[in-house]
Amino acid sequence: MSEGAAKKEEKPRKFQAIRGTRDLLPPETALWNHVEQTAHQVFGTFGFGEIRLPIFEPTELFARAVGGETDIVSKEMYTFTDGPSSIPEKPDPHALGEYLRAADEEFGKGEIPNTSANRLAIDQLKAKFEEFRQASMKMPLGAFVVESEEAFDKYQKEWNEATVLASRISRGNVLTLRPEATASVCRAYIEHGMQQLPQPVKLYYMGPMFRRERPQKGRYRQFYQIGAEVLGGSDAPAIDAEVIEMVMTVFDRLELQGVQLDINSIGDKNCRPKYVELLRAELLKVKDKLGPDSQRRIETNPLRVLDSKLESEQGIIAKLPRIADHLCEECAAHYAAVKHQLEMRGVIYRENWRLVRGLDYYMRTTFEITAKGLGSQNAVCGGGRYDGLVELLGGPPTKGIGFAIGEDRLILSLQESGKGEVATGRDVYIAWMGERAHATAIRAAKDLRKAGFSVELPPVEQKFGKALGQADKLGAKYALILGDNEVSEGLWTLKTLADGSQAKYTEPDLLEYLHKQKAR
Ligand code: HAM
Repeated sequence: MSEGAAKKEEKPRKFQAIRGTRDLLPPETALWNHVEQTAHQVFGTFGFGEIRLPIFEPTELFARAVGGETDIVSKEMYTFTDGPSSIPEKPDPHALGEYLRAADEEFGKGEIPNTSANRLAIDQLKAKFEEFRQASMKMPLGAFVVESEEAFDKYQKEWNEATVLASRISRGNVLTLRPEATASVCRAYIEHGMQQLPQPVKLYYMGPMFRRERPQKGRYRQFYQIGAEVLGGSDAPAIDAEVIEMVMTVFDRLELQGVQLDINSIGDKNCRPKYVELLRAELLKVKDKLGPDSQRRIETNPLRVLDSKLESEQGIIAKLPRIADHLCEECAAHYAAVKHQLEMRGVIYRENWRLVRGLDYYMRTTFEITAKGLGSQNAVCGGGRYDGLVELLGGPPTKGIGFAIGEDRLILSLQESGKGEVATGRDVYIAWMGERAHATAIRAAKDLRKAGFSVELPPVEQKFGKALGQADKLGAKYALILGDNEVSEGLWTLKTLADGSQAKYTEPDLLEYLHKQKAR
């Protein structure tokens, strides 16, 4: 077979969405829109404004905010170097000169980090380049023959040193696809000097987040969050309670089933370290009975042991000291007041002393909401207080609290409990036949759409029987039948597809009739 023929036979590659990502398709996207609209509305009534954030940020932002030891930062981030293509990742011995020229040029343009460390790295490589060039010129052709061993060794040494120096040049910023958005909101608060605004600043966001987790039901590598943050002002317990009331209102509006709110307080920098030490000491006593993950966490983050779902560890964890008994006076008073404020708002909660959350920035109030039909990934919302995070990111001392809803899981739960139906069929299918009728149909479609009806206008003429079949398949409520008779009489036939009944209307009467039906 000729090469050309083989190419023709070769099947084109079948592309598929990357593992852990997926397409969201109609009609399901109507439910996503409904959920998002509900959140926009409810958040608006609580005085929150929308913030739209970049999808990627410096890796360092997440590492600092979420914590280097957390699963998210240590294992799950999508990180890349944002370097210009003119500078390859590693230099080539035959093109070291070009590599240097490009680095110098991009440095000048600010396309690679304009830092003194980078300037120094480029200058050192420049100096080394001269020595490398000399060494490579002394290399006879066919350098691998034994006679030129000395020259070869020199060449090899200079090249090795050059590659070490090249590796010190930072080709660009190290960036990460956002695994969450609280860090970004805090970064934006600082960047835009929002502490000058009336406090607190109340912001919400929605959009994709990225974590390289093991995909399963309710767990994706690209997933969607709807979150809200309150920054600045006081840490009044009423703020914690109102934020929780707000997310519960969204769930209530959506008729989410089996909603369960768990709350806890994990103390602050005064009382938590003492509790963590006590916990560590207790855990060390039972270390042998714990699984490898928990054993590791005794060192890295003993609080996370409380999160363990391992059956064999449950009995041991139940006997561990509880943070509620070790909160300092201020934290205990704050926690009691949050609970009181929730009761004042009629928000039902369950105290869960093991709720510690997997991100480092939390202090005092933490909460999580679960819902029906989700199996092991049943948290539809997580949140908590993070006073001090803005400061940690270089801003002024600032109070903060917020949450994020896992939109994928929220949608799954709504679907599983039969609350996921959103009407998506067309209102009117226009069945037209004949040139004059086509012109009328186009005008009718325009008027009906302007009045807010969803209209399907077939692009080519169809027999009425076929058109009505199409209308049925698309789930249309009505078929508007326009033939020569209807157009000349000025009386249009409207067929109700559910019961097959039909009646004739003048154009204005038809619009009025449809409006009345819609309002019912
Ligand atoms: P988080 O608990 O990491 O908190 O995530 C919040 C929610 O996002 C989870 O409860 C879950 O519903 C959803 N979620 C997380 N990972 C995945 C995944 N791989 N697939 C599907 N859904 C997922 C945060 O992200 C904090 N930033 C929340 C916050 C805001 N705290 C204060 N303000």
